[in-house]
Amino acid sequence: MKHWQLQREDSGLVWATLDKQDAAANALSAEVLGEFREILDQLDIYPPKALIIRSGKAAGFIAGADIQEFTQLDTADKGRALVERGWTLFNRLAAVNYPTLAIIRGHCLGGGLELALACRYLLAVDEPGTKMGLPEVMLGIFPGWGGMLRLPQRVGPTAALDMMLTGKTIDAKRAKRMGLADEAVPPRVMEQAARQLVFSGQARRKLPLLQRLLNGPFKAIVANGARKQVARKARPEHYPAPYAIIDIWAKHNGNALAAPELIDEIINSSTARNLVRVFFLQERLKAFGKESSFKAERVHVIGAGVMGGDIAAWCALRGMTVTLQDQSLERMSPALQRADKLFARRLRDPLLARAAFDRLIPDVNGDGVAHADVVIEAIFEDVAAKHALFKALEPRMKPGAILATNTSSLKLEDLRTVLEKPERLVGIHFFNPVAMMPLVEVVEAKGADPAVVQAACAFVRQIDKLPLPVKSEPGFLVNAVLAPYMLAAMAAVDAGISPETIDEAMLAFGMPMGPIELIDSVGLDIALAAGKQLAGGAEPPRCLLERVKQGQLGKKTGQGFYTWADGKPGKSNAGAVPSGLALQLVTPLINRVEQLVAAGMVADADLADAGVIFGTGFAPFTGGPIHFRNK
Ligand code: COA
Repeated sequence: MKHWQLQREDSGLVWATLDKQDAAANALSAEVLGEFREILDQLDIYPPKALIIRSGKAAGFIAGADIQEFTQLDTADKGRALVERGWTLFNRLAAVNYPTLAIIRGHCLGGGLELALACRYLLAVDEPGTKMGLPEVMLGIFPGWGGMLRLPQRVGPTAALDMMLTGKTIDAKRAKRMGLADEAVPPRVMEQAARQLVFSGQARRKLPLLQRLLNGPFKAIVANGARKQVARKARPEHYPAPYAIIDIWAKHNGNALAAPELIDEIINSSTARNLVRVFFLQERLKAFGKESSFKAERVHVIGAGVMGGDIAAWCALRGMTVTLQDQSLERMSPALQRADKLFARRLRDPLLARAAFDRLIPDVNGDGVAHADVVIEAIFEDVAAKHALFKALEPRMKPGAILATNTSSLKLEDLRTVLEKPERLVGIHFFNPVAMMPLVEVVEAKGADPAVVQAACAFVRQIDKLPLPVKSEPGFLVNAVLAPYMLAAMAAVDAGISPETIDEAMLAFGMPMGPIELIDSVGLDIALAAGKQLAGGAEPPRCLLERVKQGQLGKKTGQGFYTWADGKPGKSNAGAVPSGLALQLVTPLINRVEQLVAAGMVADADLADAGVIFGTGFAPFTGGPIHFRNK
């Protein structure tokens, strides 16, 4: 066999180890599943005392079905055959009469978790990389290999639907708590623990009565609730898969083969095709981080404003030791408070949150500069102030350390003139809110050292963001394409269309937030300044000028285009959306993306699509602005 190894111990225990040939991660391709079928054939002939399935890759257990193969599903028959392949095989695994166990270490996603769920026991290895989930919905499809049947049986339908409809993953401890894993053990004892568990004869934890009822006679009630929840986040015409998941679970006991018309509809949907495209775009962005072996341990951030403070907190969350510099502790205090909340929310464990907080060190004197592997400048946008700062920083920095600026509006070529080694300055441009936005633009000034740009991309990956190399031109990619879109939205306000109608038009198009609400969130003063820089001298919209004059700056002042209360805009009824409005508003954005691709802002159109999706939330199911136009 190419991908699996079998070892039989004298005790009669068989170890099946998956190490997919020539691949960084284990994906369940047709070939890998074919070999697994042969294994089950062999074990039918010589039944083992027990079977343990594990991964031969340090990175993780199994990353799901082979997504490459999804791109070849050009007929309905092929789609149904793909579902049938895993569904039948895993049913067969679930039915063998010897005990089976999967050792889950690292990622265990999609088909990987479905395979593990078909085993009698699931042993989770408790280490930071371990995460289990059914993320199919993010690819526009459903977990058709038994996940929709077995996950609700194992953890109850509420928790299972939550995982299947959001694609979110859970760690080893949580998996144990919710009954997904039978045990969670540290790596050093995992094999011993697996042996004990597989021979233990231990019965599967029984689902509490309520959950059994919800997974039985009360399914329809749960399904209705779930449909309502999904409807708040995703419209069926944009994202049909979550609705299909609910239906297949509720009406077909998780068996998609019982609803072949749904398989055809979902697998052939443009949404699924485009979301698979987005997955591969994301892989391209990730790959930029693989070109350098640079690894940071210490980061120094200067400027504890919204951006600097949140960048520092994010780096600490991702395990770095971070020094945060500003003129006084008082100035840093709001940033530290936000960091505290972020750690509590994201880490959900007081000890881990405490450790993250300890890694974020206020540093008024800038002592961290000398030890930092990455220094990020995030002070106010003023060339003279940045010059003075860079002059002071450069001689104190370690020789190989990255010197980065988070500027969004100044040219790196102007900022670096005071440096001994100007080629070392790179832009690492984050988006607000830092914790939410996956993209980071890595800005390459003319004549920059390519090794520095690659190292900056590696750093961006290290903190689990997606790097996009861009050229050093005003607005880079993301802000430059947002500007004409926001201008078009405000021109529509000037033409008498209500903000509510404009926002509704773009929500119906598939944007995560309407452009007017976005302007209110960003701040009208900032929109005005950015507009002046990016609009090529065009007159700012009347509606914007008037509000800025009156100090109505949006969310932060409580009044902008909307009146804000409790962090939410008060909106009245949007009314009927004029036909063609969405296209009218989005066209300037798409035009600008095309111009920027032609001008070489990014290497190609696919990367521009990736940047606009991950940097602005541009409707992912469209596959990106240029893909949308060319479809
Ligand atoms: N199918 C095919 N290839 C896959 C894959 C899958 N399900 N999952 C990962 N890979 C490949 C990647 O394309 C990449 O290939 P490369 O080495 O040629 O660049 C390689 O495995 C490593 O993945 P990468 O994403 O760079 O590593 P990571 O450590 O950052 O992330 C995962 C690993 C598994 C978390 C991430 O790849 C992922 O989310 N995969 C998809 C999971 C999924 O949606 N599964 C459900 C499928 S139905």
